[in-house]
Amino acid sequence: MTTTVPYHDWENRYQDWTEQVLDAVRAVADSDEFILKSRVAALEAQVAERTGAKHAIAVANATGGLTVLLAALGLGEGDEVVTPAFSFISTASTVALRGAKPVFADVDHDTACLDLAAARAAMTSRTKALLPAYLFSTHPDMTGLAALAQERGVALIEDSAVALGATVDGRPAGRFGTAGVFSFFPAKPIGGAGDAGMVVTDDDELAREVRMLRNHGQDLGVRFLHHKVGYNCRMDEISAAFLLHRLPRLDEFLGARRRIAEEYQERLAPLAPELLTPPDGYDHRAVYTYVVRARRRDALRAHLAAEGIEAVVYYPRPLHLQPAFAYLGHAKGDFPVAERLAEEALALPLHPDMRPGDVARVAAAIERFYRGAGR
Ligand SMILES: Cc1ncc(COP(=O)(O)O)c(C=O)c1O
Repeated sequence: MTTTVPYHDWENRYQDWTEQVLDAVRAVADSDEFILKSRVAALEAQVAERTGAKHAIAVANATGGLTVLLAALGLGEGDEVVTPAFSFISTASTVALRGAKPVFADVDHDTACLDLAAARAAMTSRTKALLPAYLFSTHPDMTGLAALAQERGVALIEDSAVALGATVDGRPAGRFGTAGVFSFFPAKPIGGAGDAGMVVTDDDELAREVRMLRNHGQDLGVRFLHHKVGYNCRMDEISAAFLLHRLPRLDEFLGARRRIAEEYQERLAPLAPELLTPPDGYDHRAVYTYVVRARRRDALRAHLAAEGIEAVVYYPRPLHLQPAFAYLGHAKGDFPVAERLAEEALALPLHPDMRPGDVARVAAAIERFYRGAGR
């Protein structure tokens, strides 16, 4: 069966994409600036302005950004970080790589994000930070988590990798606590031409540490004097040059994604309870992926594939049941909502260049599965 609605349509994605990538390469090739130079600084300034952060620090990717940030906060052995049992692995692996302990807490079934009450219950005297993640098109109760972090005197680090441009309760994603991190992975709403990321914070000292730690512990401009044992987590100028083309259009990209999500929402809402859509209210959210909770998810996915529609499972296994975290000693049943989501979650095709009628085609195929021949 040929694919009629691809999950990503890279081939037809953004008509100006190729020209802008070539433009970025040419601009850098004609200069002697390759890494952490003027284009990176310009991108940092634009992200700082967009988010209202005092500091934006460009990094090689969001995972690296989280790692550097945790190092800058001095987190390590003996420390605990409360983090969701259902997320992309970076939210927890970065904690583990620092020698600290990721303490999983269950997530909310509607948002798939860290549950506030569960986060509170998971805190101990060793908790040094809360590390929630924005997922798909949703977000945790950031206002509640910020209040909890403040009440308990711990850091709040936002894995807002997927959420640049979103606001929650009127505040930009990434701006609720100590620091936030964004990803420019190509599939993200503001995707780069490769890996790239950004850390944002208002804290001068933390920003200085992050700047050093992303660059081998050196102060910018002073080579081979290493104040700290750091990382190589730098953004290159080609990435920054391309992202300088994209960033001014963030609202346009987010708007196109929101409209697709809203159309899915309208068409799929009647299929409850077999299929549950994400929470309503897209006005201020950044839609990275459109993830529904589906009964008989794997059969639905196979049915869609048979109709030429690509759907993807985000995420098939919760973090506490990943082999990488077996050493933490968790068992099935520890985080029931995360486990349920791993069985139900299905991401439908969503990208700004979907053709008219694509969403209707996907929705009709899903309806046939639950109401018609696929039953
Ligand atoms: C929730 C979340 N956190 C972190 C990351 C990591 O971002 P990067 O690929 O830039 O390291 C991703 C990327 O998929 C993500 O979805």
